Amino acid sequence: MVTQSSALKGLVLSGGRGRRLRPITYTGAKQLVPVANRPILFYVLENLSEAGIKDVGIIISPETGKEIKHAVGDGRDWGLKVDYILQEEPLGLAHAVKIARPYLGMNPFIMYLGDNLIGSGIAKFRRDFEQSKADASILLKEVDAPTNFGIAEIDKQGRVIRLVEKPKAPVSNLALVGIYFFSAKIHEAVTKIRPSLRGELEITDAIQWLLDHDNKVVSHRLEEWWLDTGKKDDLLTANTAVLDGWTRRKIKGKVDATSQVNGRVDLGKGSHIINSTVRGPVVIGENVHIEGSFIGPFTSIGNGCQIRSAVVEHSVVLENAVIEHIDRLEDSLIGKGSFIVQGNGNHHAYRLTVGDDSVVEL
Ligand code: DAU
Repeated sequence: MVTQSSALKGLVLSGGRGRRLRPITYTGAKQLVPVANRPILFYVLENLSEAGIKDVGIIISPETGKEIKHAVGDGRDWGLKVDYILQEEPLGLAHAVKIARPYLGMNPFIMYLGDNLIGSGIAKFRRDFEQSKADASILLKEVDAPTNFGIAEIDKQGRVIRLVEKPKAPVSNLALVGIYFFSAKIHEAVTKIRPSLRGELEITDAIQWLLDHDNKVVSHRLEEWWLDTGKKDDLLTANTAVLDGWTRRKIKGKVDATSQVNGRVDLGKGSHIINSTVRGPVVIGENVHIEGSFIGPFTSIGNGCQIRSAVVEHSVVLENAVIEHIDRLEDSLIGKGSFIVQGNGNHHAYRLTVGDDSVVEL
């Protein structure tokens, strides 16, 4: 018999290898890749804090743990108490639950994947979970490519019948969003499952075990957008969604008399816009220099970037990148400290994904 202690804890998964966002994640944690100039993980922590969570354990890997700790610290920026849990190898989401067992104790908890971004808060899902007295509550959302996700089969009443991780022949297009609510019952489930074909202990299989053993599993549809930012296109889509929904006009930097800054543009302090046009929604960090350029909608430019004689639209440019003499850069993800320049006589539009500290001469 499992008894429940009341305080809901948070468990954020920020380990793993981030293969799909390479080359960006060769040099950094994918949970720290910024969307609208803020690391994805910060939105996760904000959502947990706004839902009234106080204690959060963050799963980290040996490769990127230091970087995550440096960015998040002790969690006080979000009013949280953060503890770190080292996972030596990325052996699966259910494995992460296993190693977090001493931290979680018998408390119910929210497991939140550190690369998932949703267009709403989670307080309402927390309330529903607590009222339902379920052992697991999952969020579902329709997706176009169900073979890439954990997929749920539900009956006419909306009850969950079966869950399959990355099915070859999906029975539905309802994916499990990376936000799960669990009672302490999940700890038994994760000890009962075996690794999947990809060699991981799947949380999907652990929830299936709960279902198979007559435990209550409830589901909710997520109405707002959801992005698993582990892939480049999703990252650009997330950037667009966040800029579109949440950017406000805030001009702290300087705009010279020959420039136009239109609409919802957030310009950080120490930044200069010279002889350029910026059309929002756009976020530009601190100490950025933009000259003789056009910065189009849905673009995020990190701190310390320099952009000269270039057109940049619908792109994410990470800090300290330099872009010069580019006719048109769109739908691109440019790594930190990269240098992108176009040779004389080349006139093209480019779509690029460039890792950190790269030099690209077009
Ligand atoms: O994003 C939702 C999907 O997330 C669900 O639909 C799937 O059912 C679920 O298995 C998961 O699939 P992914 O293949 O996208 O998971 P990924 O390997 O990308 O890991 C998700 C996060 O968890 C990521 O921030 C890295 C972290 N992680 C991952 C593993 C495998 C860990 O911290 N430890 C791990 O062992």
